[in-house]
Amino acid sequence: MQSQIVEVEGGDWRELSSGAGWTAAVEAGKVLYFPSLGFELRPGERALLRPEIRDPKSRNISLNVDGTLKGAAGDEATQRQVAEMIGRFREQAVSLITRLFPQYAQVMRLAPTSYRPMQVETRAQSWRADDRRMHVDAFPSRPNHGERILRVFANVNPEGAPRVWRVGEPFEDVARKFLPRAKPYVRWQARALRALHVTKSLRSEYDHLMLQLHDGMKGDPAYQQDAPQERVEFAAGSTWICFSDQAVHAVMSGQYMLEQTLFLPPGTEYDPDASPLAILTRMKGHALVDSPGR
Ligand code: SIN
Ligand code: FE
Repeated sequence: MQSQIVEVEGGDWRELSSGAGWTAAVEAGKVLYFPSLGFELRPGERALLRPEIRDPKSRNISLNVDGTLKGAAGDEATQRQVAEMIGRFREQAVSLITRLFPQYAQVMRLAPTSYRPMQVETRAQSWRADDRRMHVDAFPSRPNHGERILRVFANVNPEGAPRVWRVGEPFEDVARKFLPRAKPYVRWQARALRALHVTKSLRSEYDHLMLQLHDGMKGDPAYQQDAPQERVEFAAGSTWICFSDQAVHAVMSGQYMLEQTLFLPPGTEYDPDASPLAILTRMKGHALVDSPGR
């Protein structure tokens, strides 16, 4: 398998700008890796890098779009410091995307920013929630109707531990393997899920198929072991970007990461034909989301 990782030199957040095929690469589902682009901690923030900073009742710490903090433990001053650190990362992540992909900046919608202080290796989870299995991101309760999931990650591990991922084969190859095994979409079931508030809006056929790919991959041990894949170490002090609804990924080890999600309306890519929605639509031969107004 051709490597799905594209390395980009440069260690200054303000000096990077669009160019050199990065747009085509990221829209082909590759991971853009900036090995020397680090998120710099301020004095005092090193103390925030400990697992107890997370409220044990929450999976992650997150800074909402309105600036409120969720999931952190500690007194008010500590929480303010956590919010400030995550907020600074948000600004840098947004400005990086704006520089690299100016067209996205016009249309992207900010999602909460997360800080993940937990050690990946020791987390016990059901197979479906286990991100150590290769998958593409798809949300069971939040249908997105083809909206894209663009993510910026920064490894801030203070002891130099890398964040280790497995990155899998191109999206189209995955779809070719798992679409034939996918359960058919049933409209009345999607309506029932909405009525029962299992989903926040109607699960479209696109959302259904993306979940089928997600579950199909995670639930197939032979695929996990034998499918084309590469092991990637994202160094402490590095940053990487991918469309996580398209790049096949799994996290194997690491601790302390910041992550920013940006949503892009369907069809606003530089090349909308390269998107998972376009690929699945071509394969199925019919529209997978309702056109606006229907
Ligand atoms: C994921 O998006 O599957 C997890 C990524 C990570 O925690 O490194
Ligand atoms: Fe994921």
